[in-house]
Amino acid sequence: MDNTDETILQSEQQTALHPTIFVIFGITGDLASRKLLPALLSLYSKGMLPKRFSIIGFSRRPFSREEFRDFIRSKLNIRFGQFREEDVKHFLDHIIYVRGLFDQVDSYRLLAAKLTEVDKSWGQCSNKLFHLSVPPDLYEGILHKLHDSKLATPCSDETGWSRILIEKPFGNDTKTAQSLDALLAKLFKEKQIFRIDHYLAKESLQNILAFRFSNSMFEPVWNAKYIDRIHIKLFESGGMNGRGKFYDSLGAIRDVGQNHMLMMLALVAMDKPESLSSGDIRTARARVLKKLEAISPRSLVDKVTRGQYIGYISEEGVAPDSKTETYVRMEAKLALSRWKNVPFYIETGKATAETKTEIDVYFKNTENKKYEHDPIKQNILTFRIQPDEGIKIRFFVKTPGNGLRTEAKTLKFRYSDVPSFGMIPDDYERLINDVFIGDQTLFASTDEIMASWKFITPILEHWNKLPLKKYSKGAIEVE
Ligand code: BG6
Repeated sequence: MDNTDETILQSEQQTALHPTIFVIFGITGDLASRKLLPALLSLYSKGMLPKRFSIIGFSRRPFSREEFRDFIRSKLNIRFGQFREEDVKHFLDHIIYVRGLFDQVDSYRLLAAKLTEVDKSWGQCSNKLFHLSVPPDLYEGILHKLHDSKLATPCSDETGWSRILIEKPFGNDTKTAQSLDALLAKLFKEKQIFRIDHYLAKESLQNILAFRFSNSMFEPVWNAKYIDRIHIKLFESGGMNGRGKFYDSLGAIRDVGQNHMLMMLALVAMDKPESLSSGDIRTARARVLKKLEAISPRSLVDKVTRGQYIGYISEEGVAPDSKTETYVRMEAKLALSRWKNVPFYIETGKATAETKTEIDVYFKNTENKKYEHDPIKQNILTFRIQPDEGIKIRFFVKTPGNGLRTEAKTLKFRYSDVPSFGMIPDDYERLINDVFIGDQTLFASTDEIMASWKFITPILEHWNKLPLKKYSKGAIEVE
């Protein structure tokens, strides 16, 4: 980080404590109850939200204030177990509900009136944060109305910023992503736009860069000469959990492939950024994504496999004749001399045998003939993203005793061994905090999004020509 960035961050840190209104479009949805509200509550209970803050839930269901409180409480009941009752009670006092339709100008007037009312009661022009936690086909309409109603225009030049948080999937392919990005650029300033890929904010993912560039022993061997292949996996044992309708319009490749999986690839393969500034880190991630080699239609069958678990089409919200994939495995390569011919296997699935996200870096076999009786001898470095986050290295030692045999051992770092483990902010806590301070490092840039779609879109154009292999729930074993 250079000095300018530090100064900006310091002053942003102070403005983060400025009164803030967090407007959630689609507060009754799954994302809000699963990720957003627990993160806000956690930040609140750690004293990390401004003293004056309000969460305005904007949705179409009819709720009285009390009903809405009860609704939020019931949604988050299980998660509340980990918080103090008093914190929960006070936190709920900060939540306001505004009923409205996303496509009706009048609803935005109501919302604007509520924002003004809160500002007036505080006697200040507050920061405004608009989170689009809604199906992506609603983005465009909402963005236009946010702009036209002047809701996202800061109420003063000196205090009170206004920022937009937009969830993935960002577009459906290159064309739609470009048009969404062009719309954002037309309506708002780039520093107001925060494109979420919550994987970037996972502590264990951020550690990839710290680990790679703080240990001089890895960087010299981090290339095609020493690395045989890299396997990036995101396996989830669960099925749709009520998200069938949303998922069915995406499939695994759009749901996590184009974003989370490629961001993991970027972090593991990128060059050292010129500095730790937000701009340099995002540029280095984008640079590597731009080098993804296109998979030709002819090699598609060899390089890409797609599957669907048996029972998927009976999930709520899923079309009975759906051909949407719930599993993908593909082989990607990078047109960079550093990674010449090194395959990056990207594999993700729902309803797999286990839930596990990790990146395995396989080093080439040793060529030491002295130990030729031994089976495959590959060092493996594993970044375990979740659960049981950590880093593990498989290495070889001489089996004690006569002879020259070796055996595999493991060196491990586990986050759960760190005393402050329970205090580590989760992905959404980190994202919210970073939006508050205006740091875009852990958010996707236009270049990254366009580069990843450039790789994925041609694959999707031939998607239905690939056989859809059926698998039983739990049948895909996780190595
Ligand atoms: C979301 C996908 O972006 O990421 C979900 O839409 C997926 O389908 C989820 O389950 C995984 O995120 P996490 O943080 O639970 O690993």
